Amino acid sequence: PKVTIVGAGNVGATAAHIIASKNLADVVLVDVAEGLPQGKALDMMHMRSVEKFTVSVTGTNDYEATKDSDVVVITAGIARKPGMTREDLLGVNAGIMSSVIDAALEASPDAVYICVTNPLDVMTYLAYKKSGLPVNRLMGMGGVLDSSRLSFAVCEKLGCMPEDVVAWALGAHGEGMVCWPRYTTVEGTPITELMSEDDVEAVVERTVKGGAEVVAHLKTGSAYYAPGASIAKMVEAILTDSKEVMSVCSYIDGEYGIEDLYMNIPTRLGKNGVEEIVEFDLTDDELASLQASAESVRAGLANLPE
Ligand code: NAI
Repeated sequence: PKVTIVGAGNVGATAAHIIASKNLADVVLVDVAEGLPQGKALDMMHMRSVEKFTVSVTGTNDYEATKDSDVVVITAGIARKPGMTREDLLGVNAGIMSSVIDAALEASPDAVYICVTNPLDVMTYLAYKKSGLPVNRLMGMGGVLDSSRLSFAVCEKLGCMPEDVVAWALGAHGEGMVCWPRYTTVEGTPITELMSEDDVEAVVERTVKGGAEVVAHLKTGSAYYAPGASIAKMVEAILTDSKEVMSVCSYIDGEYGIEDLYMNIPTRLGKNGVEEIVEFDLTDDELASLQASAESVRAGLANLPE
């Protein structure tokens, strides 16, 4: 299989590295910056004999080389710096997303598309409107990352290992994020039974602020290792038709009482991309906070340039 990654910056290159290391697919890195995708791709090819993967990584400034990809991941755009929210990126990144989706689609009309550029939910919706892609073949990466940050926060608090944790973070990939503590478990036991209400709140707070915590340390940009790994996980689920359910920024049309919106929601991934939106049993309060999260995404959509 063939995976194109648009944007050979921190997130795109890290995703390429992990996809290649797992030997999942040939990777094409494409970027507007001349030399950057070529240099990083060559560096990864030099790594091939050390890590013994057999797939290839190529770098290009031209979409011709991306032709007929199975999956296209879009990470092109600016990242936030300290003090910025993801929403501050909207103006610049909307222009980039619009041009990228057109060019990528012309080369790979049958691919499954994964948007990563922030603000995620708004950029994925924009890509949907621009591309006319069927909703099963267009999604965003946000919830896998947010859920892994929730898993981390739970492990830090309880001293457990991630392999024992199932974590669910959903809704807007931003301040409006929602966690489901009742469905977040350690060895099958909900964290609501394992820690106090205050501790649950602290763990949720750490999750929502996880990205900003990284930005505050780095100062020069935002996270990329966990985002890269999260992209690779989604690509793997699609290429192997795993049918795994994870938090994916998917098109919601009536599920959970939410309409015409892209936001993180439990989603079954497989060879067709989004195979199914999975509806969990929620209390009235849980449903209300998910719907409030949807409204925060809708507020962002209102800022999209015409
Ligand atoms: P970066 O600045 O390291 O890389 C961005 C790359 O995009 C640069 O190499 C730039 O040359 C390229 N680019 C700009 N315009 C382009 C165009 N028209 N066509 C092709 N390439 C173009 O930024 P980083 O850290 O890789 O972040 C990329 C994006 O991903 C940002 O918008 C960031 O906010 C977002 N992000 C999203 C996450 C998520 O969970 N959805 C997690 C982490 C980052």
